[in-house]
Parts: sequence; structure tokens; C-alpha cells
Amino acid sequence: MPDHIIRTYGLDRWSKGMFAPLENGDLGLVNPAWPDAPPASLPALLHALDARGIHSPVLVRVGAFLKRELERLNNSFARAIAVNEYNAPYRGVFPIKVNQQAEVIDRIVEYGRPFRFGLEAGSKPELILALSRDLPKDALLICNGIKDAEFIRLGILARKTRINCVLVIESPGEADTVIAEAKRLGEKPALGVRIKLTRRVTGNWADSSGDRSTFGLTTKEVVDLVEKLRAADMLDCLVLQHAHLGSQVPNMRDIRQAVDEACRFYTELRRLGAPLTYLDLGGGLGVDYTGEARASENSINYTMDEYCANVVETVKYSMDEAEQPHPILITESGRAIVAYSSMLLSDILEASYFDRAAPIAPEEDDHHMLSDMAAIVEYLSPRRLQESLNDAEYYREELRALFRRGVIDIEQVARAEQIFLHVVHRIKDMVAQIEDPPQEVLEELSAHRDIYRANFSLFQSLPDVWAIDQLVPIAPLQRLNEIPQRRAVLSDITCDSDGKIDHFVLGEGVGNALPIHELQEGERYFIGIFLVGAYQETLGDLHNLFGDTNVVTVDFNEDGVLELQHEVEGDTVAEVMAYVEYEPKQCLDAFKRIVERGVRDGTLNPSQRRMLMQTYRDALGGYTYYEHEEHANG
Ligand SMILES: Cc1ncc(COP(=O)(O)O)c(C=O)c1O
Repeated sequence: MPDHIIRTYGLDRWSKGMFAPLENGDLGLVNPAWPDAPPASLPALLHALDARGIHSPVLVRVGAFLKRELERLNNSFARAIAVNEYNAPYRGVFPIKVNQQAEVIDRIVEYGRPFRFGLEAGSKPELILALSRDLPKDALLICNGIKDAEFIRLGILARKTRINCVLVIESPGEADTVIAEAKRLGEKPALGVRIKLTRRVTGNWADSSGDRSTFGLTTKEVVDLVEKLRAADMLDCLVLQHAHLGSQVPNMRDIRQAVDEACRFYTELRRLGAPLTYLDLGGGLGVDYTGEARASENSINYTMDEYCANVVETVKYSMDEAEQPHPILITESGRAIVAYSSMLLSDILEASYFDRAAPIAPEEDDHHMLSDMAAIVEYLSPRRLQESLNDAEYYREELRALFRRGVIDIEQVARAEQIFLHVVHRIKDMVAQIEDPPQEVLEELSAHRDIYRANFSLFQSLPDVWAIDQLVPIAPLQRLNEIPQRRAVLSDITCDSDGKIDHFVLGEGVGNALPIHELQEGERYFIGIFLVGAYQETLGDLHNLFGDTNVVTVDFNEDGVLELQHEVEGDTVAEVMAYVEYEPKQCLDAFKRIVERGVRDGTLNPSQRRMLMQTYRDALGGYTYYEHEEHANG
């Protein structure tokens, strides 16, 4: 496999050894237990799923990748704790909001058991879900978010069942409800306080940090809370301090400074008499989506090991200086644990090429500007690239104007468009062959990128790509032993012009076109959209009524073979209709009456009626995405 292909897609930078090409050009999953074994081919997986009736788009979760990242985080903390002679353990929790799916949560609980890894609930539904999972003894269940009396009662009484539930007070009003409920139940809860750090972090989620963040208590409110709890004889319940540093924090320096400030609050609260033993630093540990290893919105300038080492060192230094015991460390790292384990695999349905390899000659009576445009290729040279592009654009514009004024007919303007595409093709060809093509030409050519239509909905499967310009790595799943000749943007199958991806993670940084192969007749061509395990699944919406995709969980068995372990079928058309308040059965009946009218009027014969009704019925029970005809009926 040529190295430059791996570099084209930045695989060597973002894949962290989890994805690698095979000799036959397929992209594969690397078994973390046997990294030197041949990777498991993703196209082969898709064909095996197809044979079982599970069609693309499909979200693939890899159990081994989830386990690997969860273990890496815990082991990194354990190492940092040992190296720094830190006197307390790490007890991480997974924030359920980052991926609530049962398959994911259950595996996190299972893989986290040896580390006494817990869960974080940010709402009552998440708490109810978390209470039903059998967390190991000593694992924490941290309750953040706005809490009503019912939420608080659940949190207090659950402790009686050995569940280590900590209610984190998020506002002064919540403290009153907690005190009232605890008194009513005659129980002492374990409480935390969420403080607002004054330091703001950089990155996409800067607003969730600093004193303008919408969560947590101000310094004055924290001091008041201590007094309120003391007055209620409940200060001994305050065992945890929580400060959420932000999400996807790009710069290690920001993390260090925020941790340092959190420690100042912690030591001061202990001085005021709060018997804190847990320091919860929330989220923030980022993922290097672009693999650039720099402090930018989609990258981070530190590794997981560095994050853990810096956190442990900073806390130890602060505590030692204040002569306080080392707290049990908690982080609520979600993204870093789950991002790598899920990928969306989709097929390309069609391509619109914005250049044309075959030359086309003007016809005898065509306007002279068609021949002028066709003649550009005769003087095209590396020095005259810009001029050639200007000329082509000029002639195309003039010819379109002549068409609008009725001077040339539709066939001529169609030929003109083809000649233009050929000239662009020749210019692109020349640009690809020279070493340092002019930047302006490159930029102008980017307006002539191809459009590849992929079978997925950006709004359903990649909401952060749409809403906050999140970058995620994308690569073809086959033919990686061939140099990709096309440069394309990806468009989804919604009818929304926002439904496209036009920024890509590439070897040399971020680019505005994805290197991709020309489609071949009869071939299924797949792409993978990687690192989508965090936040994307439940944030997605039903734009154009494209529903949940099929989801499978795969894992390597003891022999290192990839096997299908779990499957959730995507939404059917009937299901998404029900979400938006249609009753599918009523729709079917109503349509039947409309069709019957056609038969009565004689516009539809009985056999057409049967076929129409059968197609409607099949479509109602079918997948919401593009179905290839051989798959349409199951
Ligand atoms: C309170 C809290 N904890 C943890 C997280 C997860 O953070 P991350 O995305 O850095 O994993 C979030 C997400 O923003 C959060 O709000």
C-alpha cells in the first residue's frame, strides 16, 4: 500500500492505529489485541451485512475500540497517580448524554467494572436509566442537571441500595429542595456543589466555561451554600466539588489553569469546614479529529497521557501546597471514550463530475465563441493557467447570456457547457502535474469540485457537522491501492442545500475537497465517516423524515475474527410518520380510497391498483433511506 494514500486521508495522523488499509485496497479495522494481524475489511463487513438484509447507511460500533479507549483513560490516570505518588485513586464516570444508547452504556459499565468506573446523569431520564444498570461497588453515580423533588428523592433513597449516588447542587434553589427532601426522608445524602470557574477555555464550547456559563454557583452562592448546609446540620454531606472545564478543550494550558482554579475552590471549601473528598473536573478531554495535534477547534495539542499527567500533577501540587489530603479524582470524559468506536458507513449513489475528459467539437453553424472556447486547450500551458481559466469562464458567461436573449438555442448552449467542462478538465490535469500551482487558480478550481451524493442524512447522523462545523475524518472504504483522481464535496440525500460536507480532514490539514475515485459501472462504492461515537446519535433530527439508520455492534472474537454481536434496525417509514403524528394505518386506508377513485374513474386498472397498493405498503414498512431495488422489499 503506497504511503501517500495513507497520508492523503491523514490516516496516519487521526486513526491512532485503529484503521488501516489492506493489500487489496480495502480499509479495515485493526484488532487492538492483535495489531499485526491483517485488518478486518470494512467493505467485506458491509457485504456480509447486506446479505443479512442490513443495508447501508449503517452505523457500526466496534466493542474493542470502546474498550481500548476506556482502558487507556483509566490506565493513563493510574500511571500518572503512581509516577506522582498521588495518594488517592481515579474514579471516572461516563456522561450518559454523550451516548445514551443501551449497547454503549452497558459495555461501558462492563468494560469499566475493573476500574470501578461510574456514570454521570444530567437529567431525570438519564438517572432513571443509570439506576437500572448494576454499577460496581464504589463506582460513582454523579447526578448533575436541574433536579426536581422526585429526582432528588431517587438520588437520596438509591444510596440505601449501595448505589454511590452523589447529588450535585447546581443552583441555590436546588439546595433548598435537597435540604427539605433530606429532612422529610430523615436521610443524609451525599452532596456535591458545582462551582463556576472564572477562567474561560478556548474552543467550540467556550461558553460552557467561565462565570457567564449557565450552570453552577457563583463564588458568593458557594459560600452561602456552605452556611446553609451548616445551618441545616448537613455540611458533612458535602463531599464533592464539581467544575466542568468545557468540552473538546483544545489547549492543555487552559486545562491546567482551570484545574488549578478548581483546586483553589476545593482547598478553600475544606478550610470552611466542608469535608470534600472528591474533585470532579467534568469533561474537556478532547479528541484529535484532524490529527494535527494543535490547539484548534477540531484538534488538541496534548495526548490522553499528557492530560492525565497534567491533571494529577496540578492537583497534587495545589493540595500539597495547601496541606490538604489528595482528593479522589473524577473526570466526566465522554467524547474521548466513545468517539472512535462508532463510524457511519454509507454508499455513494451518484456523482456529478464538473469536468469532462472527452473533447467535444462545436458544430458547423455554432456561434464562433464555441470554437474560441474549444481552442483554449491549444494555448493552455503552466504559465497561462489563470488566463485559460479566465477565458473559459468568460466564453461560458457570454454564451449563457446569448441563450437567455434567444440568440443561440438549447443544443448549442448544452455543447458550450460540455466544451467548458473539457477545458476545466485539461486545466485540472495540468495543475495536478505541476509542482507549485498558483493559489488563485486552485481556489477558482475549487468551484468546480465534483459532487458525490451519499446515502445518509447529515441532520440525522452528523448533526454537529451541520450545526457547528465539526470536522470528522472521511475516507473511501475500497480502492485505496489506486490514486483517487477526483476531488469532491459530499452531498446527502435530504433536499436541503445545507445537507453537504465541504471540509475534509486530509493529510496536509483541512481541505475543501475529498480525494475520491471515479465511480465504475455497476460498482457499490462506500465511504466511511469516522469518529462519530460522541453526541451524534441522539442529537440528530428527522429532517425530510430520514430516520435512525441501521446500527450494528461488531467485535473481534477469540480467534480475531470480526463478528456481528448486536443489531438494531433503523426506523421504517411508518415509524417516522408516527413520530410526526400520522397514523400509518389511517394513511394506508386514506390512500386506498384515493386509489379506488382512480379505478372508478377508469384512470387505473385493477392490476395497476394492486401494484400501487403493494408498493405503498412495502414502502411504509421499509427503510427511510435510498434502497437499492434488489433490497427494496426486505
Ligand atoms: C457536565 C458535563 N460533564 C461532562 C461532559 C462531557 O464532556 P466531554 O465532551 O468533554 O467528554 C459534558 C458535556 O459537555 C458536561 O456538560
